[in-house]
Amino acid sequence: MTSAPELATGRLRLRPLAAADGDAVVALFADPAMSRYFAADFSDPGQARALVTDRVAAALPPGYGHWAVEHSGALIGVASLRRSSTLPGHVAEIGYSVATKHAGHGFATEAVTAILDHAHGALGLPAVFALVHEDNAASLAVVAHTGFLDVGVRQAFGATHRVLVALPSRRGRLHHVELWVPELSRAERSWGWLLGGLGWREFRRWSAGVSWRLGDTYLGVEQSPAATGPDHERTRPGLNHLALHTGCRADVDRLARGGSGWRPLFADRYPRAGGPEHYAAYLENEDGFEVELVATDTS
Ligand SMILES: CC(C)(COP(=O)(O)OP(=O)(O)OC[C@H]1O[C@@H](n2cnc3c(N)ncnc32)[C@H](O)[C@@H]1OP(=O)(O)O)[C@@H](O)C(=O)NCCC(=O)NCCS
Repeated sequence: MTSAPELATGRLRLRPLAAADGDAVVALFADPAMSRYFAADFSDPGQARALVTDRVAAALPPGYGHWAVEHSGALIGVASLRRSSTLPGHVAEIGYSVATKHAGHGFATEAVTAILDHAHGALGLPAVFALVHEDNAASLAVVAHTGFLDVGVRQAFGATHRVLVALPSRRGRLHHVELWVPELSRAERSWGWLLGGLGWREFRRWSAGVSWRLGDTYLGVEQSPAATGPDHERTRPGLNHLALHTGCRADVDRLARGGSGWRPLFADRYPRAGGPEHYAAYLENEDGFEVELVATDTS
């Protein structure tokens, strides 16, 4: 059963596909050209109805789904976010079809954009894949318009397909954090140790500060002459703690003992101080800053 939410775009409504959509999906695929690049011929009404039955019954992870794509109240296409049956690792894969008579108006591009926003934003998926027959020019245009990267080829259903991946955009993500500290060399020692242990590397250095970068996010510490107090108090309004992805549990264990000015917090409840489902370490440094190191991988 799909738990896909309804998605709205400027012109389209994407709502969960339903058993009652059988006739509309038969009409959608009536043109044999619609199935030219598929393994099955959905212009056969029986195959189109089976597609609906299979999709409505499919067991999918939360938030994945099969959608009916509606324009002005009529079903003009279908789209999906599912676990791939053809790519290794059962990665998230997108699929989409728009009726021939509605083609070329940007509807597929609009639907794919909405599903990617949902997948990267609400679901937090790190990547969404698409598998497109190498001769399917319209579909290759859709993935190009929606920011997919072409990462290779794969033989599937007896034909050569492009493998494409869409990564989350940077829009709205954390750009940088700046912490004002009472003493720069002490802050550099403790933050350099912690962030360095998680793969951050020195980024910039100036007379009053230093920063480290990981990917496109950086964190800086600065002993600013404009600071109005000597210490950081994490229980006052303002920053309570920074939480960082730490990879596997062994990585959390390695850092949990602290070092270079960091001491463990809540050690008697390690590693479950954040709750039974949460594997994390909590550290506090000499300046009163707290970090939470969270095992993101379940291993
Ligand atoms: C692929 C498909 C979903 C595109 O739907 P759509 O609503 O027409 O897509 P859009 O209008 O958003 O974009 C289509 C783009 O392809 C271009 N295009 C269409 N036919 C083309 C062709 N034969 N050669 C080159 N480009 C083509 C269009 O010009 C448009 O690009 P533009 O916006 O730069 O002009 C639709 O053709 C379809 O359902 N095909 C059958 C099913 C299918 O193949 N699904 C994809 C499986 S991976």
